Amino acid sequence: MKIGVVGKGGVGKTTLSALLARSLAERGRRVLAVDTDSNPNLGLSLGLSPVQTESLPTVPRSIVVGSRGDLTVAELMADYAADTPSGVAVMSALRVAEAAAGCTCGGHATVRSLLGEALDAETDDTIVDMEAGIEHLSRSGGTLAHADVLVLVMEPSLKAVITARRTIALARDLGIVAFCGVGNKVADDQRDLLSGLCADNDVPLDVVVPASRDIIEADRSGTPLEHGQASLVWTAVEALTDCLLNRSGVSVTQ
Ligand SMILES: Nc1ncnc2c1ncn2[C@@H]1O[C@H](COP(=O)(O)OP(=O)(O)OP(=O)(O)O)[C@@H](O)[C@H]1O
Ligand SMILES: [Mg+2]
Repeated sequence: MKIGVVGKGGVGKTTLSALLARSLAERGRRVLAVDTDSNPNLGLSLGLSPVQTESLPTVPRSIVVGSRGDLTVAELMADYAADTPSGVAVMSALRVAEAAAGCTCGGHATVRSLLGEALDAETDDTIVDMEAGIEHLSRSGGTLAHADVLVLVMEPSLKAVITARRTIALARDLGIVAFCGVGNKVADDQRDLLSGLCADNDVPLDVVVPASRDIIEADRSGTPLEHGQASLVWTAVEALTDCLLNRSGVSVTQ
């Protein structure tokens, strides 16, 4: 699967990208997680140390990936993907390491080019943890144009749900037809509010991830969420994994 994880700023895209990547890897799938944050920290959530995360190489901007391009998928992964303790490979695509070095459009072009290739020889699932908002869908060509399915992450707020609704409209124009809607940071007494907002805005709500103190603590210490913690979160992540496998038409779960 080629999965884009999208949503309004701060809703939990990076947190859920890491948990989803781990869940897929635990099912025996080879997973590549692509961090598109200009200030990347997905590596920490996958078990890398701060020093290892800091020293991840950044993929070159504006390259064409493929056998007729600048680098094959295998070369790109060999040179720029790092293995993590969680069994997921991670790649940093849009890191900004230099002041006044120009915009990150070239990095988006590289990610788009990567997703446009057949990745099956190198990985079963590629998860792109997207930068906040919807600009990535309007950039030239659309960074996620070749994604099979989008994970729409929403907090229980009207603004987060409206962002998801706008995302669906733009993504459909790019030809993306599969979506899994995820409510995140949802307290028990906010479930009905979120369901109502999603129904009113024609946004799917497939999975609800509870608000979790354990996630906040893990984030504070820059470590991955342990399996012994937050069992309701893990149950929801498994449901999200099933949703993605179903929606994207992958029939075999290992
Ligand atoms: N289920 C949850 N319960 C409680 N806190 C959460 C949950 N999911 C994420 N958070 C917290 O919300 C904050 C934002 O999470 P995260 O960085 O994953 O969001 P994001 O959408 O990737 O943000 P950005 O738009 O900046 O990339 C973090 O402090 C994280 O710990
Ligand atoms: Mg993020």
